[in-house]
Amino acid sequence: MEALSRNFFLYLSKNQQLNKLASQYGIKMVKGKIVGGVSFDQAIPFIQEQNKAGMSVTVDHLGEYVDDPLTTLERTRGIVAALEMIKEENLDAHVSLKLTALGLDISEELVRLNLRRILTAADRLGVMVTIDMEDSTRCEQTLNLFQELRADYQHVSTVIQAYLYRSSEDLDRMQHLQPFVRLVKGAYKERISVAFQEKRDVDANYRKLIAKQLDSGNYTAIATHDERMVSFAKHYALEKGIGKDNFEFQMLYGMRKQLQEELVKQGYKVRIYLPYGDDWYGYFMRRLAERPANIAFALKGMTKK
Ligand code: FDA
Repeated sequence: MEALSRNFFLYLSKNQQLNKLASQYGIKMVKGKIVGGVSFDQAIPFIQEQNKAGMSVTVDHLGEYVDDPLTTLERTRGIVAALEMIKEENLDAHVSLKLTALGLDISEELVRLNLRRILTAADRLGVMVTIDMEDSTRCEQTLNLFQELRADYQHVSTVIQAYLYRSSEDLDRMQHLQPFVRLVKGAYKERISVAFQEKRDVDANYRKLIAKQLDSGNYTAIATHDERMVSFAKHYALEKGIGKDNFEFQMLYGMRKQLQEELVKQGYKVRIYLPYGDDWYGYFMRRLAERPANIAFALKGMTKK
């Protein structure tokens, strides 16, 4: 049943027609609940609200799989503008981005050019940019680009997914770059040839990766809503004498607010992933696929004024 509903929402997430309808009519339903609005400007008050509550933010301009070079250039300009606004408004925020929004599926030259523009601005302004990880067919190229760029730029980080068999080796391969890595379980539907299918195997590998990255002394972002994983990371760090400055917890905006607040009270760093943009529909469907209980919350949102 769980797998069925997961597949159903992943299928809906790719429906262009519904995406179009949702973009036009549905933003009221999700603004301030799971996204910050349709533009970076609209997201600013939500970033400030999180900062006031003691939490950092990473913003993400929603929209992926762009197949038109001009749109990728607009995206790049938009991200650079967001980096500048973060600095101007003195916001405690990073930027997350997806390579398929910047031309990964068009050409490697284009995505590299766009990324270099963004990272030049990020280094100048001192704002971290995280390259999100997409599905496994794009993993190798994403990590290669990350490694190439990390050699030239300070403010770039990426994501490792615990459901992939390759991830432990990927972490080893990158250690010489002293990377800031966000660890996640993985959000896409993957084949058994590349990824663990059972939750317990993904969880075991997630614990292994948390331990490995914390042991490396490189900065670790533990991005999960799973209390058992949060608790594992806390205990592991305590046992090994790893300071609270060496890692942070990351959660999606609108999810597990109470847990976020408790962690802040306990002196842990917490960063909230806050998406914005009119292309929120696919993002919303993927969240439903991960946790159908979010449906209740979405329906409640729909009936609110
Ligand atoms: P999981 O889904 O394994 O659930 C475990 C338990 O946690 C549940 O049984 C429940 O108790 C609790 N729980 C989970 N979600 C909850 C919720 N919404 N509300 C209440 N309780 C909940 N993926 C990817 O492939 N590439 C990426 O770049 C990123 N980036 C990213 C950034 C950030 C900040 C986060 C938090 C997540 C991602 N992800 C991601 C998504 C990630 O891979 C994963 O799909 C989701 O976080 C769901 O897995 P969890 O570890 O949160 O819990």
